[in-house]
Amino acid sequence: MTADITTADSARADSARADSVRADSVSARADSVKGPAAIRIESLGKRFTPAAPLVLDDINLTIRAGEFVCLLGASGCGKSTLLDIIAGLERPTTGTVTVESGSAAVMFQESALFPWLSASRNVELALKLRGVPRERRQSEALELLDLVNLADAAQKRPHELSGGMRQRVALARSLAQDRKVLLMDEPFAALDAITRDLLHDELERVWRETSRTIVFVTHNVREAARLGQRVLLMSSRPGRIVNEWHIDDRADRRSESAEVARLGDEITNQLRQEIRRNAA
Ligand SMILES: Nc1ncnc2c1ncn2[C@@H]1O[C@H](COP(=O)(O)OP(=O)(O)O)[C@@H](O)[C@H]1O
Ligand SMILES: [Mg+2]
Repeated sequence: MTADITTADSARADSARADSVRADSVSARADSVKGPAAIRIESLGKRFTPAAPLVLDDINLTIRAGEFVCLLGASGCGKSTLLDIIAGLERPTTGTVTVESGSAAVMFQESALFPWLSASRNVELALKLRGVPRERRQSEALELLDLVNLADAAQKRPHELSGGMRQRVALARSLAQDRKVLLMDEPFAALDAITRDLLHDELERVWRETSRTIVFVTHNVREAARLGQRVLLMSSRPGRIVNEWHIDDRADRRSESAEVARLGDEITNQLRQEIRRNAA
């Protein structure tokens, strides 16, 4: 593998080389996710000011409806910027982004719950903003909290909940927006490893039960290998997508599985090359 991954072509070549070392349950099948597109990104570029360096360069990407995509890269490579552009919170400098279903729900590292409202009321507020009638809000909020295994804590306020529980409430609140696309920016980065593992299992289950399209940003290789059906590796300065891995749904995806560890090693090697290339 070369250390100078600078073009899509060399990324494809690297991807082809990497294929040959893949085990059966983890394969790079371009057609592994079928169906209509949920998000289309074409020739996307981003600079924050005309004189500032390019943060994102020539991003071309189609994400299918129902797909779980992890966007992986070093700190500062532009992951949040890309997610914010998909969310409509930032504008692209060049190129286009289309979210077929209209708009997306977003979840961040900080749960940003209202501290004076109970877990249930925090979720009810999102339902209210969506226009759900008052008489249905409480029962729908409870259903959503149940979906994230938090029904028992519905009446607790955020300060009475652990960090993991607060992120479950934040997830329930994102689901309350009832958008087909859920954008997640390092939502579990502040949690301890065991809580994070638990939430990975929960998120995978919620994704399967709710058929959402999820774009999950992380700088954690294992997290990306654990969760993604597809893992996209970004370079830094400028941020480009330099490689991708498709992970077979039948693979044993638990964090401690040999498959996830092996794939994690492979991705880590490439991420290291990217970081070294930038440091040079
Ligand atoms: N609002 C902003 N104005 C100017 N520069 C920004 C802004 N947001 C991010 N950047 C710069 O863009 C680059 C990518 O940032 P970001 O998308 O937050 O990276 P990541 O999420 O991968 O850590 C960084 O160099 C950062 O300093
Ligand atoms: Mg970020």
